[in-house]
Amino acid sequence: MIILGIETSCDETAAAIVKNGKEVLSSVIASSQEIHVSTGGIIPEQAARQQIISIVPVIEKALKKAKLTKNDIDAIAVTNGPGLIGSLLVGVETAKTLSFLWKKPIIPVNHLVGHIYANFVGQKKKPAFPILSLIVSGGHTDFVLIKKHGEITWLGGTRDDAAGEAFDKSARLLGLPYPGGPAISKEAEDVKKSNLSKYPRPLIKEDSLDFSFSGLKTSVLRSVKNKKLTKEERKQNSAEVQEAITDVLVSKSIKAIKKYEPKSFLLSGGVAANTRLREKLKEEVKNNKLTVELFIPKPILCTDNAVMIASAAYYNKNSTPWNKVSSNPQLSLKD
Ligand code: KG4
Ligand code: ZN
Repeated sequence: MIILGIETSCDETAAAIVKNGKEVLSSVIASSQEIHVSTGGIIPEQAARQQIISIVPVIEKALKKAKLTKNDIDAIAVTNGPGLIGSLLVGVETAKTLSFLWKKPIIPVNHLVGHIYANFVGQKKKPAFPILSLIVSGGHTDFVLIKKHGEITWLGGTRDDAAGEAFDKSARLLGLPYPGGPAISKEAEDVKKSNLSKYPRPLIKEDSLDFSFSGLKTSVLRSVKNKKLTKEERKQNSAEVQEAITDVLVSKSIKAIKKYEPKSFLLSGGVAANTRLREKLKEEVKNNKLTVELFIPKPILCTDNAVMIASAAYYNKNSTPWNKVSSNPQLSLKD
């Protein structure tokens, strides 16, 4: 089954064509990130306008790269939330229009579920159930337990800022460009990782699977306010921020794995692209002698893309009420 995935929940306009949920035939991502660097963050109206400009060329390019035509597509998968409403509307309305013109069914995909399914792409073997996943993105930090496709239970999450947001806001305070996560990670690259304990690790000792990152941002603000940081100080502070956030994420992940004993643990979302987080999680799973199988998508599949949307649609096609939103409910999916 060949699915065209469309993802426009934020500042990326993405289209991908994926066969049977795992084989990527093409993936195209246009980003309006450069525009947002000048404003230090995303202005939703601007992001939506860029989505309108990019969506059709991006879909055309995805078809061309895969050497396919509309006739080869079995279904259209589209992110229907959560995200910026203006940006989401561009993707959803485009998918509905194509569905009507091409006579193909639509499969709506939750963006966060999409992030999880990036772990089903390009892997030697599929994650086994029960699956525990930590979704760490710009707007979300959540633990979910998945017993089977379509059966997802939320276990805990952030009480305030998301992990990606903590990276982005701290980066801004340190004078680094948007998006802050990759910028902080780059600054921290050459800093020695031992003895980094300047910033708090909120809720790390608590048994709950909740997070709270807003206090961390305040600590960074207090520390750097009215100071002109030297290059070295900026690097050091970046490493400190990264270590504090990743310490909490890793410690809570280990707690969650011990409590729920899943067969697979899936790290998902944009922050999963963080090298330090990836290496620390692998190390701690090993140190704790956990038998869980750890999955982390390759970095390009961690941040927003349409491959994950097409993959999630494939595996959840029977559990999602896709036919209810198809512009033509008579259309049926063929395998
Ligand atoms: O999943 P994503 O692309 O978009 C949302 O759904 O929000 O995540 C974006 C977030 C941003 O906060 C960005 O700073 C963070 O992921 N991010 C990173 C890295 N790459 C992206 N954070 C830390 N290290 C990275 N390498
Ligand atoms: Zn995302």
